[in-house]
Amino acid sequence: MITVADVKNDEEVKAIMYMAESQIEALGFTEHSVRHSSIVSKWAGEILEQICGDEHRVELARIAGFLHDIGNSVNREDHAQSGAILAYHILTRMGMGYKDAADIMMAIGNHDEHQGLPVSDITSALIIADKADVHKSRVRSNTTRMNVTNISELNIHDRVNLAAEKSGVSVDKETREIILNIVIDTEKCPVMDYFEIYFKRMQLCRRAADFLGWKFVLIINDVHFL
Ligand SMILES: [Fe+2]
Ligand SMILES: [Fe+2]
Repeated sequence: MITVADVKNDEEVKAIMYMAESQIEALGFTEHSVRHSSIVSKWAGEILEQICGDEHRVELARIAGFLHDIGNSVNREDHAQSGAILAYHILTRMGMGYKDAADIMMAIGNHDEHQGLPVSDITSALIIADKADVHKSRVRSNTTRMNVTNISELNIHDRVNLAAEKSGVSVDKETREIILNIVIDTEKCPVMDYFEIYFKRMQLCRRAADFLGWKFVLIINDVHFL
């Protein structure tokens, strides 16, 4: 079986991910690089491991997590769809079976909140893992330097990410809850700013948890919102 380690070491994957990150950087968006992909890969795998425990599907979720944003190498617009097709071709070229590669293609093609829907267990785990990665390290260093004196002038995405001290996903098997826990420095941005940009994403997370037959719980600064 092709593993996430094989995918990470593949030269074509490395080249495409490098280009995806350089396009995102040129556009001035928050970080979508190997750091983000690795975290999403890890969290998607952990969620599915707790929920279904099928090691084969867990590995597919890890691979989907690692590759989910490679479409940014084509264009930010519709990056989920372009990335899905790219991933299918890379994975079949690497020797993955068509069905597994198609499973990953479908998950990646549905990870974005604009067109995506939870249509499988892997898709659902990927959606939740992706939307959970809100963190100050995703704000670019040139923006961070500017922020020292000008935080109110930052765009809302940078402001929210910069204020996010911590974020993480956990799974409570007893209550069947998937919990997204975020700590926001409210001196840097009000919690309302978070909801302004993340409301649609949180709705998708709730639908993803529903698909799995679990409950999605959002906790910000120890307050339960969902
Ligand atoms: Fe994405
Ligand atoms: Fe992402």
